[in-house]
This record gives sequence, structure tokens and C-alpha cells, in this order.
Amino acid sequence: MVGDMPSVTPVTAATQASAGLADRHGRVATDLRVSLTDRCNLRCSYCMPAEGLDWMPTAEVLTDDEVVRLVRIGVESLGITEVRFTGGEPLLRRGLPAIIDAVAGLDPRPEISLTTNALGLTRTAEALAAAGLDRVNVSLDTIRPETFARITRRDRLHDVLDGMAAAQAAGITPVKVNAVLLRGVNDDQAPELLEYCLAHGYQLRFIEQMPLDAQHDWHRGEMVTAEEIFAALESAFVLTAAEEPRGSAPAERFLVDGGPATVGVIASVTRPFCGACDRVRLTADGQVRNCLFAREESDLRTALRAGADDGEIAERWRAAMMTKLPGHGINDPSFLQPARPMSAIGG
Ligand code: 5AD
Ligand code: SF4
Repeated sequence: MVGDMPSVTPVTAATQASAGLADRHGRVATDLRVSLTDRCNLRCSYCMPAEGLDWMPTAEVLTDDEVVRLVRIGVESLGITEVRFTGGEPLLRRGLPAIIDAVAGLDPRPEISLTTNALGLTRTAEALAAAGLDRVNVSLDTIRPETFARITRRDRLHDVLDGMAAAQAAGITPVKVNAVLLRGVNDDQAPELLEYCLAHGYQLRFIEQMPLDAQHDWHRGEMVTAEEIFAALESAFVLTAAEEPRGSAPAERFLVDGGPATVGVIASVTRPFCGACDRVRLTADGQVRNCLFAREESDLRTALRAGADDGEIAERWRAAMMTKLPGHGINDPSFLQPARPMSAIGG
């Protein structure tokens, strides 16, 4: 029967994995996070200083066509199935609807999502939905205007809340909310934030604060831990573990008062999930980062602008995964924060 076998090599799971973005620790990245700008119209205290940062020079930022080309290579040649656009604030990128439209036209079409502060979503949600945006994660740490102004240094809470409503009205659902609790600032507000999200049908997830601020002010001892977040929520709600396995999703989900609504806690620091990581990141200036906390990057922009073909770029990208460390090491005394702040990496 051997003679009846097709002469082409069958594509097995193993050959597929070797063609994808595998690392040396058995993980394969399928979730691409693309930062479209390092600029932001808020100044969250855990992210950047009041005066902002020295923004990337425009000439170094990938053009819309360059972004789409890299995403296409990721999707067509490297097994990327999910694409998330982040910033800084990705809504500040004028070409966003066109970029989403082009990515939605790729085959196989990836899932497309956006991490945003929601400022400006009231104006753009419809167009983004029409372009192919599937889901949105909004950063919101409080529903009190004074606390919002204190954390973000801008008095824009109502614009954010309107933006979230606009996303939901445009069918970009479920709207997820990311919240960071800061000790002495909003750590007493977890229940009211959850109450608000439940009332509006948004899925809330609390994220432990990570050492990614531009100012290097993060201190382990000051961080509000997942355990504390859980305890604060339990003072007002009954939480039970949601039955589904955690998988590669970093949020541990809990049913609220028996469900069906849930709340997530992302314990990046106290319960790292690096072993299941399926992410890879591309910065606005065309550098591959194999981890949020990587201290090295791989430059795709130079190759791109020097005329490299898709195959060469894919090869460089694959090679960039080989230095991915098994974990972020935040809890290790020798941990060193990456030079790039969160706003220039993307969440
Ligand atoms: N630690 C945890 N989350 C952060 N974010 C920004 N900086 C940090 C940090 N140091 C969040 C934002 C946004 C997402 C991109 O990450 O609030 O929701
Ligand atoms: Fe902007 Fe996000 Fe940083 Fe806040 S956390 S300043 S919204 S990039």
C-alpha cells in the first residue's frame, strides 16, 4: 500500500509547530500583540510621569503598510490566530480602522481585539466594528471622577464610560474591563467597580500591578495582591471558581453570586502563568519582544526597510522566539525591569 501514499509530506502537528513561533520551553505563540503608538492621552500614575515621555520619533514608527505586512507574515506563515492592537493608546493612531480592515481580510482571518482607554471610542466604535474589530478591553480603575482624575491626571471619566457604552452598542462584545488597584488610591473601590460592570454587562478583570512603569516606582510590598483583591470582592459578593480550566488565559475567573456573570483576577506577579504563555509582541517601531519583561528585542524594521522578503522576516521572527525565557522572574532578587515601559510595549 506504500505506493498509494501521497508523495507530499503530510503536515503533522510537529511540522506545524516547527513552522510556527515555538520557543525552547515547549510553548508556541499564536497571540500577537501589536503596539501602534507609544503615545497616550492619559497619564496613569502607574504607567508614566505627569509630563509624559519622550515619544518615539515618527520615522521610527512602522507605517500602516509595514504593520499590516508584519501581521500578514505572522498570520500566513507563523501560525498567529489572534491579533490585539495596543499602545500607548491605539485609538490615537489615525490608520487604525484601515489597519483593522486589512487584517480582517487575511486568510485565515485572525480574531481582532483592541486594548484601549476608550477615549474617542464614542466617535470610532461603529467604524471599528465595521472594519472587523471583534473585541475590546478597556482600562478603567475606578468609577469615581475624583479618583479617575487622580490616577490618570485627566478629568475624563465620563468620556471613558461613554466610550465603553459605544463599543457595546456597536456590537464589539463582550466589553472587557482591566483594572489595576493601587494601595491607598482605589483599593477600597473593587466592589463598586464590579457592581458597575455587572450592571452594564461588562466583564471585569483585576490585574496585579507589574514593574513596567516608566518611573521605576513599583515596589513589591506596595502592590495590591490577587489575594487582597479576592478578599475585597468577597466582602460584597460570593465568589466561586468558574468551572472552565484556565488554559493559556491569564485571568482566573470566578462566578459572581452564583453566576452567570464572572470576575477575573490576573495574578501576574503572585501566580505567574508564564508556563502557558502563547503571546508575542511587536512594538510600534518594529521590534519583536518575546515577553513583556524581555530585556532584548529583535529588530524587524531594519530588515523590512532593507527589502527583506517575507521568508527572511519570518525566519528572523522565529529566531527571536528562541531567547524567550521560561518566566518573567519578577519574584527573583536578580530581577531587572525592562528598559521599555509598558506604554511602549503594549498590554
Ligand atoms: N501593571 C499592570 N497593568 C498595567 N497596565 C498598564 N501598566 C500596568 C502595570 N504596570 C494595564 C493598563 C491596561 C493594560 C494595557 O495594562 O491599565 O489595561
Ligand atoms: Fe495611557 Fe494605558 Fe499608560 Fe494609562 S496605562 S497612561 S491609558 S498607556
